[in-house]
Amino acid sequence: MLSAVPPPVTVRVPAKINLHLAVGPVREDGFHDLVTVFHAVSLFDEVSVTQGEPGIEVFGEGVSEVPADETNLAWRAVQRLAEQAGRDPDVTLVLRKGIPVAGGMAGGSADAAATLVGLSALWKLDLTRDELAPIAAELGSDVTFALYGGTALGTGRGERIVPVLSRHPLHWVIALHRGGLSTPRVFGELDRLRGDAEPVDRPVEPVLEAIAGGDPRQLALSLGNDLQAAAVSMVPELRRTLRAGVDAGALAGIVSGSGPTCAFLCTSAEAAMEAAAELAGLGVCRTVRVAHGPVPGARVVEEPAPP
Ligand code: C5P
Repeated sequence: MLSAVPPPVTVRVPAKINLHLAVGPVREDGFHDLVTVFHAVSLFDEVSVTQGEPGIEVFGEGVSEVPADETNLAWRAVQRLAEQAGRDPDVTLVLRKGIPVAGGMAGGSADAAATLVGLSALWKLDLTRDELAPIAAELGSDVTFALYGGTALGTGRGERIVPVLSRHPLHWVIALHRGGLSTPRVFGELDRLRGDAEPVDRPVEPVLEAIAGGDPRQLALSLGNDLQAAAVSMVPELRRTLRAGVDAGALAGIVSGSGPTCAFLCTSAEAAMEAAAELAGLGVCRTVRVAHGPVPGARVVEEPAPP
């Protein structure tokens, strides 16, 4: 009997920002309990999975920073799903990066989520997102959200997800910084800055109410990220970037996750284009993008974009 090689599967997966990120004290396992609101925005990676020689290829901006070996989280996703399905990890992964690397937008987690969705299709496992979620949670704190996308409340170490209904699109300017930041180091810096002090209470309700109301001005008042002080302490220029975005017309700016990428909320798509053009001219960041959210999580697409 002839066994046909299945055609490659390509999955598109979005970046995330955190509209709210409250970080609790460090736990015994080294992680921090979080209450966060994830929001998927329209910067995407594409991951293609092909049956063949085990390996990984990476294209796009910042590729020199992405490990093209078995330490890549996407490759760990291959190994983990292969184990579960009782198969050999005989797949080639191609990652096309559109999400900033080490930028606080969960690009590595996104690639791992996309790999799970892609392999489930390639190997005809037909696993639902809910079935993939426990494997995603093992791989990393942000991988589960990348499966679902949209806007969601995250608890635990970020891996427990409940969708948040948000009918109104939000418009963002995303300012990419020159370098990256290591997530564990940013959490460590927050612990250092806090010392023995209790975390300051940061309630999530105003953010959820503002999302439900759909008024970006209201949401701008309630955006908040406990990791921002730590990221700014490690990269003091971010203070200037955050100010410049607001001076350029955004309603508010926030460090995305552990940074150093900054996200600026605007009133409309046009306002975001104008603020992006102005911010780009100020020389406070490497490059500027516009994006909107919420967008769906990891999804199989028909045709891969050229590398
Ligand atoms: O889960 P993930 O591998 O993405 O986390 C990377 C690192 O970020 C962890 O090793 C930990 O140092 C830090 N982290 C944390 N608390 C969380 C999530 C991540 O301290 N809830």
